[in-house]
Amino acid sequence: MMHNLAVIPGDGTGPEVVREAIKVLARVSEIHGFKYKTREFDFGGERYLRTGKTIDETDLKELKDHEAILLGAIGHPDVKPGILEQGILLNIRFSLDQYINLRPVKLYSSKFCPLKDKTEADIDFVVVRENSEGLYKGMGEFRAKGTKDEVAIQLSYNSRKGVERCLRYAFEYTRKRAREKKLMLCGKTNVLTYAWDLWQRVFDELGPQYPEISRDYAHVDATTMWFVKNPEWFDVIVTDNIFGDIITDLGAMIQGGMGIAAGGNINPEGVSMFEPIGGSAPKYTGKNVINPLAAIAALGMLLDNVGEEEAAQNVEQAVVKVAKDDLQSLGAGRMGYSTTEVGDLVVKNLAEKG
Ligand code: IPM
Ligand code: MN
Repeated sequence: MMHNLAVIPGDGTGPEVVREAIKVLARVSEIHGFKYKTREFDFGGERYLRTGKTIDETDLKELKDHEAILLGAIGHPDVKPGILEQGILLNIRFSLDQYINLRPVKLYSSKFCPLKDKTEADIDFVVVRENSEGLYKGMGEFRAKGTKDEVAIQLSYNSRKGVERCLRYAFEYTRKRAREKKLMLCGKTNVLTYAWDLWQRVFDELGPQYPEISRDYAHVDATTMWFVKNPEWFDVIVTDNIFGDIITDLGAMIQGGMGIAAGGNINPEGVSMFEPIGGSAPKYTGKNVINPLAAIAALGMLLDNVGEEEAAQNVEQAVVKVAKDDLQSLGAGRMGYSTTEVGDLVVKNLAEKG
């Protein structure tokens, strides 16, 4: 089987961590006997500063010709906030209709957990974040801009179809996940009474089609409290774009930090994109100190997505072993190893036959 992959190394430390992921891909493809081709795209801050271009229709069309995309990071200190995020990252998510942002929160070793008395068994859940609507739709307006009566309006857009496809994905995902089969809707029904009324109605409507799944609801503020106090309560959480953005940063922290957190921007019927969720970390660029495990874990998710499940598991297990047995810390510069050494360690820890 030949996999045709797009690679966007991106900005800052993105290229360094992607290089390690590709190193792991090279070896794991030999072990599991599949072939792949990669094509690199130079989207990011450097190209923007050089050409004034984020990405255009041709770029998007070329991306769509691939089976999946691996992304390093987008974000450049010399580019005004918003331009690259909207022009590249959100543009790809929206244009390729990657309507799910799947973010596993899994503690690989209790030594990396900032929470007292929590172990690997306590922190193992997944956030299904809606990835195409909500506040990210960019709807709104200024009224009387620049005057003392100015009003800035930012709307949350929730379509029945958009909500339903996200919830359906979450139910299906919970069904497949061999754990507790608990799905929690995380919202704010007590204040945001239009959006969350719709979400709650569709959630309750779909529920009976999945009788083996127990359903629960929590407000987003309470959810953050329980992430810290009782993370063991969670199995799968489904939520909207902005709440998902916020709670998954907290999720990343309780699983050990940005050095390990990976996510997938998923179009179940199309081309998906996988990324470490930590950003470009410009101050560490070129120093060979950033942790590549999140990017390697993102590669693992990509492999699962393209049907190489055994290879995906092999990669994940190697990441877990290296985190557990070798690294002193998951933070940049504190791992006890360089970026390239951590990549080598993962390669060394791949099981020879999956
Ligand atoms: C993320 C990031 C993005 C988001 C930014 C960079 C636009 O924070 O992937 O969570 O808000 O979705
Ligand atoms: Mn975020």
